[in-house]
Amino acid sequence: MESPVQQKSLGNTGVMIPEIGLGVWKYRGGVEPLRRGVELGACLIDTAEIYRTEDVVGQAVKGIRDQVFLATKVSGSHLRYDDVLRAADASLHELGIATVDLYQVHWPNSSVPITETMRAMATLVDRKQVKYIGVSNFSTQELRRAQAALPNHPIVSNQVLYNLNDREIERELLPYCQQHDVTIIAYTPLDDGRLAVKSRWRRRQGMAVLEEIATQTHKTLAQVALNWCVSQPNVIVIPKSDSVARTEENCRASGWRLTPAQLALLNEAFA
Ligand SMILES: NC(=O)c1ccc[n+]([C@@H]2O[C@H](COP(=O)([O-])OP(=O)(O)OC[C@H]3O[C@@H](n4cnc5c(N)ncnc54)[C@H](OP(=O)(O)O)[C@@H]3O)[C@@H](O)[C@H]2O)c1
Repeated sequence: MESPVQQKSLGNTGVMIPEIGLGVWKYRGGVEPLRRGVELGACLIDTAEIYRTEDVVGQAVKGIRDQVFLATKVSGSHLRYDDVLRAADASLHELGIATVDLYQVHWPNSSVPITETMRAMATLVDRKQVKYIGVSNFSTQELRRAQAALPNHPIVSNQVLYNLNDREIERELLPYCQQHDVTIIAYTPLDDGRLAVKSRWRRRQGMAVLEEIATQTHKTLAQVALNWCVSQPNVIVIPKSDSVARTEENCRASGWRLTPAQLALLNEAFA
């Protein structure tokens, strides 16, 4: 089977996950792009209870469940103990599976004690409904508190915004996660498609350098933008595409590396 997508360890678990996964927020592509992505090694699919795409993901993984690492999320408005358990039941039902590989708190909610939420997450692991626990949109401090509230299980990932145009996590969260072996699952890695199309107006200097490096490497803009993200230790990306061709293109953002000089040029151009 053709598999251009390289893998990285999920947190400190030793479990290998692809550095390019498949996001399905606002996804309308049906089962084909997801199946093709999995075939090419992008065997992590990321959904959420609020996306209303758990059913199509369930259809896509029918018969190939053992080849896919499935991630979903509990909404930040369902973080009371009973609500988390109910939300997990509903997600497993929609996905048509008994155990989800990664269950993530979609966003923090300061009106619910994090100890209560994490107690529910631990219960789900004990019940074997969840393999690994992750969070999303957590700051460094929120991540520290969440881990302190979960003494017997590691928080293996934090899913956050990261792309060439949005590099806020480089200040504090990314170094913290690299030091503590927490995988960063970078969402919106193509800046919602803006990094994948030639543009005369937006952030011209950065886009000009991106285009130049794409020409040099015989890759597309999207491939260079995604490869820049995954060149960082502990970072994987989950681009979304409704199309088989663009899913193939995105998978081929892995299996090679930008040179240190190309990375430096991009870092400077998008500073
Ligand atoms: N945890 C959170 O709070 C959170 C928030 C946002 C997103 N996410 C996750 O991250 C995933 C990805 O983020 P995103 O959907 O916001 O943005 P994205 O992946 O950066 O961009 C998606 C857009 O780019 C287009 N696109 C994809 N590949 C392309 C290519 N090779 N060339 C040109 N255009 C391309 C897509 O169009 P087509 O579909 O037409 O190809 C779509 O319009 C989501 O699906 C979701 O799973 C999580």
